[in-house]
Amino acid sequence: MSKSTLSVTDNRTGKTYELPIQDGTIRAVDLRQIKVASDDAGLATYDPGFLNTAACRSAISYIDGDKGILRYRGYPIEQLAERSTFLETAYLLLHGELPSAAELDSWVYNVTHHTIVHESIKKFIDGFHHDAHPMGVFVSTVAALSTFYPEAKQITNETSRWNQIFRLIAKAPTLAAFAYRHSVGMPYAYPDNDLSYPGNFLNMMFKATEVKYTPNKTLEHALDVLFILHADHEQNCSTSAMRGVGSSHADPYSAMAAAAAALYGPLHGGANEEVLKMLREIRSKDNIPAYLERVKRGEFRLFGFGHRIYKSYDPRAKLIKRVAEEVFDVTGKNPLIDIAMELERIALQEDYFVTRKLYPNVDFYSGIIYEAMKFPTDMFPVLFAIGRTPGWLAQWQEMLLDKEQKIARPHQIYTGSDKRDYVPIENRS
Ligand code: ACO
Repeated sequence: MSKSTLSVTDNRTGKTYELPIQDGTIRAVDLRQIKVASDDAGLATYDPGFLNTAACRSAISYIDGDKGILRYRGYPIEQLAERSTFLETAYLLLHGELPSAAELDSWVYNVTHHTIVHESIKKFIDGFHHDAHPMGVFVSTVAALSTFYPEAKQITNETSRWNQIFRLIAKAPTLAAFAYRHSVGMPYAYPDNDLSYPGNFLNMMFKATEVKYTPNKTLEHALDVLFILHADHEQNCSTSAMRGVGSSHADPYSAMAAAAAALYGPLHGGANEEVLKMLREIRSKDNIPAYLERVKRGEFRLFGFGHRIYKSYDPRAKLIKRVAEEVFDVTGKNPLIDIAMELERIALQEDYFVTRKLYPNVDFYSGIIYEAMKFPTDMFPVLFAIGRTPGWLAQWQEMLLDKEQKIARPHQIYTGSDKRDYVPIENRS
């Protein structure tokens, strides 16, 4: 009869060990018993970039990278994108179940009534240079919120946790929009609680002299869908930062600032910004083959392509292409879409991309839509951060409630010098 164990023979000692297998994993600490001598620390695993290490159990997002499947709490992303709203999806991620009508009303009410930020926040946004990258402003102001809500440190207090969750989901768009308004020298537009979550964000971004801003319904809906598509993606770089910082029991504002900082990088959420720069640099479809040759020579990467987990088409990229059509009906077509689609078509025929299973990811098409909606390029990662906020918070709360979790503290393989004695400066050659 088959057993759920792994037998390992240590050829250094000839000893055999039997390790339990659970959920397709062995426990790294079970390897510690494998030693050559009683005073050795035991065997460990070496996994830079966590290519094959599960750091937690999670019931939030499910991804099958080979089949291109993404589900939040079991619900396929396609169904949520078509039938849910961002705030309902946020509820689902955080509570684990879809809300009843009354639960949804109260949830939306709570988020909507936390959108205003303290007036002092405006003062320190004013202190940034006019050309400060809005993601830098976002990261800093999210961190600064912790100083306004000192009770957020009480991470074991459930009521306090939910208050910070409402605040972060509600205030993320306000901070993002204020960062943008500062960069273009426009007065800050205050939240309008009569509007939906994405509608209010458009209001805070683009309201000019009109008494009341009326968002375009199609663009409002498109933005809502884009937020849904970005809402969670299991243990990616920024979520791992959220969990890692949160594991030291830092308050959620500090942990989320770290997550947003991780998202900023061009290999993660900053890729959408890089895609647009890339498409502009390519300029015309005729230049695509020469550009791809340079990618294949290893001069640079094709931004918006490739993914650690997806080894087939990113399901979010498929849905984003559909949203693009709706948006272009209103805004007119962004000419970069033609270059992007041709780039995808040619790349997916090239051996280099096929053998490495490199497909468009969520960032490949999102920027083209954002640009058509008049968001400046440097706001793209900030838009990603707004969408990801409920996912980060759901993962943070799950981590805190997981009895198995401890402060994140990986091992290292020390490669430095052996012990040596201090040499006074006059004796150094
Ligand atoms: N363009 C060209 N080659 C690529 C690309 C790319 N975009 N991505 C991976 N490769 C190649 C690598 O050079 C490597 O080739 P090699 O085996 O000949 O050395 C192979 O594919 C595997 O690449 P890794 O870097 O090992 O893959 P990893 O899983 O570590 O990286 C990542 C994933 C960071 C997303 C990578 O594909 C990348 O840099 N993509 C471009 C940036 C991007 O679009 N990021 C957004 C990701 S989605 C998100 O974060 C929301």
